[in-house]
Amino acid sequence: MNEEQRLANQQVNQPKKEDKPEKDYSKYFEKVFTAPSLKDAKKRGKEDVKYHKDFSIDEQFAGMGKDRTFYIRTYGCQMNEHDTEVMAGIFMQLGYTPTEIIEEADVVLLNTCAIRENAENKVFGELGFLLKYKRKNPEMLIGVCGCMSQEESVVNKILRSYPHVDMVFGTHNIHRLPNILKEAYMSKEMVVEVWSKEGDVIENLPKKRLGSIKAWVNIMYGCDKFCTYCIVPYTRGKERSRRPEEIIAEVRELAAAGYQEIMLLGQNVNAYGKDFEDIEYRLGDLMDALRKIDIPRIRFTTSHPRDFDDHLIEVLSKRGNLVEHIHLPVQSGSNDILKIMARKYTREHFLTLVEKIKAAIPEVTLTTDIIVGYPNETEEQFEETLSLYREVGFEAAFTYIYSPREGTPAAKMVDNVPEEVKKERLQRLNEVVGEYSRKALERLNGEVVEVLVEGTSKRRDDVLAGYTRKNRLVNFKGPAEVIGQLVKVKIIETTSYSLTGEFLEVVKNEKVEA
Ligand code: 5AD
Ligand code: SF4
Repeated sequence: MNEEQRLANQQVNQPKKEDKPEKDYSKYFEKVFTAPSLKDAKKRGKEDVKYHKDFSIDEQFAGMGKDRTFYIRTYGCQMNEHDTEVMAGIFMQLGYTPTEIIEEADVVLLNTCAIRENAENKVFGELGFLLKYKRKNPEMLIGVCGCMSQEESVVNKILRSYPHVDMVFGTHNIHRLPNILKEAYMSKEMVVEVWSKEGDVIENLPKKRLGSIKAWVNIMYGCDKFCTYCIVPYTRGKERSRRPEEIIAEVRELAAAGYQEIMLLGQNVNAYGKDFEDIEYRLGDLMDALRKIDIPRIRFTTSHPRDFDDHLIEVLSKRGNLVEHIHLPVQSGSNDILKIMARKYTREHFLTLVEKIKAAIPEVTLTTDIIVGYPNETEEQFEETLSLYREVGFEAAFTYIYSPREGTPAAKMVDNVPEEVKKERLQRLNEVVGEYSRKALERLNGEVVEVLVEGTSKRRDDVLAGYTRKNRLVNFKGPAEVIGQLVKVKIIETTSYSLTGEFLEVVKNEKVEA
């Protein structure tokens, strides 16, 4: 089927905006497709999550990717990046070859992020752009997956305005990629397969890891916190933890393969293990097991202050391969705002937690996420965020203007804060963030730091670049052979966000003590 036929078919089958009001769309496609629904996604059932250890690609799909290429563009967080690695692994098992030239790809996937409106706008812009490539190459299959696909309004918009999209699938069914591709090759219609209810935990999915030095490892999926601004609990489903033995085995394998650093991933890692019914096993226990594995660095993201328990702090204080950097999103320093965000902690609780962490790990670096311009945030409430930032002495932060997300409680709140005020608050906050970051880096001047060398600098290929245990970027001149290794570097220059150093020597591999 060529592109014109496909578009003609789509136009015949799709209701037009003017003859059907938007609210009728869901009814229309619920009959035809597996449709996404934020309302269904909100339900947290008691049913057990099933564990599947036996993922394999069915024979019917063998050779599907022969002489075909794929390209995946990833938006958003590290969880999405890791999902991309899984999808790339599936593509390669199907026989597809990766390409870096998007216009030449036979299949293009956009793995999307729904966290803020501007993330979504980028995707719609890209979809418009892809139409040009598709006109040149009508056989190109275009797919949208990731968090945006879980939103009913997004799927409606794609159905209505982007008929050149061939497939839409969600975060709970990426393992169904072979089936979805097959259907897209055969179908005249856009294939939409989005499960509102979270899927099971599937082990042994193939992965094409993007690097050979650092690796991501999922420890849990989903989030049950329902902060009032956040779309994630709807797009990623309820909390499901992977079994510890699976995680430990994966980290061991990565260590044996020569990886130097592991980032453990979850939307709310401090809730790890809460869903186990047969064992009492939490993040502290997992970290205690992982620190005995011979791999230089282990990190995790993202933490929620509410579930950050004393056992975890005690284990992290043993250090070794557990780095002394904790990303601890606070979101706001005002108790009123924290309350309407449903963060379920107060400024005082947060400060007590920070004190405990600092007492146990004196060298710790704390970084955070902050949202400014929450509905009706007052100047005083905003200033409480600034004062909290100073009181904690965070060394860096991701800062955002609140972005209403359809379907979340905050999106229904009346908001009296003008856009210019929100922008001005963001700028003031960023000045404080910059000041603390600069001071933290200045303190490193003249110090010797351990750097995991990842490659050459983006700007200059005669300069090497890597990260410290505290995730600070360091640029330095040194021999190319040290790429992939831990080295000692003396810091000789600092700016607000970067460090320049002098290469000293390769770090000897000291076995991690049990
Ligand atoms: N608007 C702005 N920022 C948001 N975040 C999550 N949801 C929103 C939203 N609706 C921020 C939070 C979170 C980070 C990943 O993104 O700070 O910690
Ligand atoms: Fe979103 Fe994080 Fe809150 Fe979960 S804990 S709802 S992912 S901000």
